[in-house]
Amino acid sequence: MTDLEGSSVRLRPLVPSDYAAIFDWYNDPEVVAPFDRFSVDAMESFVSSVESAPSDVTSLAPRYVVERRETPGPVGFVGHYVPHPVLEFVDVWYVMGDRAARGKGYGREAVRLLIDHLYATTAVERVGATCDVENAASYRLVEGLGFRREGTLRSALFHHGRWHDVYFYGVTRAEWKDRPRPA
Ligand SMILES: CC(C)(COP(=O)(O)OP(=O)(O)OC[C@H]1O[C@@H](n2cnc3c(N)ncnc32)[C@H](O)[C@@H]1OP(=O)(O)O)[C@@H](O)C(=O)NCCC(=O)NCCS
Repeated sequence: MTDLEGSSVRLRPLVPSDYAAIFDWYNDPEVVAPFDRFSVDAMESFVSSVESAPSDVTSLAPRYVVERRETPGPVGFVGHYVPHPVLEFVDVWYVMGDRAARGKGYGREAVRLLIDHLYATTAVERVGATCDVENAASYRLVEGLGFRREGTLRSALFHHGRWHDVYFYGVTRAEWKDRPRPA
């Protein structure tokens, strides 16, 4: 896996010196799961899942650290996984662990880099994202990249004591290739 360079951020594979910082965010429900289910992990299983992820397309482990080009050091992390045993698409997910780095466009640029990479290196024809209907930052991030809202799954995710509806978003390879680029 190589580094993926954007204008403001880069994605790079996790290295052992990242594990403590990423694990702290990964294990903080306020950071990773304000709109998602959450379970506590142990450092040992976290490291094991990160290190086995490159050979497991279904792995939910973080795959890349997000860092600002100007000031290296993790500000977030992203992942991708094949969510369905039969249907052939990849979902992306994204967390800006450093809350001071949110709202500056870094999350969207990180996901754009990730999708460029997925379409360049795999044969996938659809990249998707699922967003709790209340998670405006998440669905606005992908809408700004040209994802279409394809539907709503009712009562699909249980967290914070109740069932939540979830939006399905997707962008096809052809749409990604033809989408308008920022100037
Ligand atoms: C979702 C998340 C990654 C967004 O990262 P970010 O770097 O702050 O996002 P960006 O600055 O690139 O902004 C993306 C869009 O979200 C909007 N946005 C950002 N924070 C927002 C908020 N708190 N409420 C509503 N919209 C918000 C931005 O305005 C922008 O939309 P616009 O261009 O239409 O105005 C970040 O909020 C986060 O880590 N949340 C917790 C984890 C999570 O919910 N991840 C998604 C699950 S897959």
